[in-house]
Amino acid sequence: MLPVGIDKISFYTANYYLDLRELACAQGTDPEKYYVGIGQEKMGMPAHDEDIVTMAANAALPLFKDEESKNISTLLFATESGIDQSKAAGVYVHRLLGLNENCRVVELKQACYSATAAVQMACALVARQPEKTVLVIASDVAKYELDSPGEATQGCGAVALLIKANPKILEIDPEVGNYTEDVMDFWRPNYRKTAIVDGKYSTKIYLKSLKKAWEHFSQSSDVRFSDISHFCYHLPFSRMAQKAHKHLSKVNKSSLEVEQTQAQIEDSLLYNKLIGNSYAAALFIGFTSLIENAEQSLAGQKIGFFSYGSGCVAEFFSGTVIEGYRQQLFTQQHKMMLDSRQALNYEEYLSLYHAPDPQSGERIEMPSDTTGGFRLAAIGDHKREYVER
Ligand code: HMG
Repeated sequence: MLPVGIDKISFYTANYYLDLRELACAQGTDPEKYYVGIGQEKMGMPAHDEDIVTMAANAALPLFKDEESKNISTLLFATESGIDQSKAAGVYVHRLLGLNENCRVVELKQACYSATAAVQMACALVARQPEKTVLVIASDVAKYELDSPGEATQGCGAVALLIKANPKILEIDPEVGNYTEDVMDFWRPNYRKTAIVDGKYSTKIYLKSLKKAWEHFSQSSDVRFSDISHFCYHLPFSRMAQKAHKHLSKVNKSSLEVEQTQAQIEDSLLYNKLIGNSYAAALFIGFTSLIENAEQSLAGQKIGFFSYGSGCVAEFFSGTVIEGYRQQLFTQQHKMMLDSRQALNYEEYLSLYHAPDPQSGERIEMPSDTTGGFRLAAIGDHKREYVER
């Protein structure tokens, strides 16, 4: 069978962030609870003229230096921050990126899991027609109630992946392990802007799903725990991945020392600590963080992935890093983007948090705020107007 997987990967986050020390200070909480307890430092906040569409287009833009955009046969858009009940957010992105008119576009949803479903579906499409390229984008804004335990785990980001035959970054193995259970750990009814979450329960069900998905993976695949050099986990906050990896190591009776076990995930956490939860995008931003920050070459190494979407659907899958992968990366651009973001004070954060959300069709011009390549210029007559900046 022809190898299929990730040929290019790029991510984007908003140019504003709130330092969790600033949040802790406003709440009268010890900042160490965030910096150490949940392992997070900053959370990305979308500007007034940014949303999942502009972030998605910005994430995908670097992938199309050449004629590549003409060859995209399908755009799969994964999100749980949908802006419309009917129209797929990817259709706006299709225009902003100038994709060809024969490209199909669809939106997928299952909490943070949907990007993994999109990647697996993209691999299946490419396996059927190896000359085609599928673009997968995951884009989300994580928003919780003010002063709730989830508030410090907010964030935003988008990631874009080109899935191709003979990929240049990661060959994805066809064997997977799945686990699904109807639970209420985190959800957002249509009439709400913020998620409802049973926080402690959600962390328990995350760990249960990891064990179940791993057991199913072990029945389907010849890849053993000790064959995997690095692991990428869904990242609601970085401490969750540390706990998850400890749990999986214990399930597998790993003989590695604690430091060696943590070293298997440390590089995958770096970007998430600075961005916060980006829901469907988080797992693949974590993978980008791993391949862009690992000092030693990962070529030929096996990577394990755990995808978790509340509600819940989970999947464990694996892949092998391809020789020469570093030439495909956008490491400098990503680091510059993260370094040049602007810090918000608590009042500025509140103003973005309470950004107007017109519901009766009145026209609102968005202040020109973002430093990204695309912006949401206005909402009027119930239509969102996206432009190049
Ligand atoms: P909490 O209950 O306020 O926090 O919020 P806590 O009291 O459990 O403290 C957290 C940790 O900080 C603890 O460490 C404390 O000991 C420590 P642990 O016991 O866990 O090892 N701590 C301190 N450390 C140092 N100095 C201090 C200090 N104080 C405390 N001074 C909670 C935690 C997870 C509940 C909250 O963040 C939350 O509700 N988050 C949102 C839900 C979530 O992220 N769940 C994760 C699993 S579900 C998931 O991943 C799916 C999701 O992404 C959605 C989707 O699928 O779409 C969320």
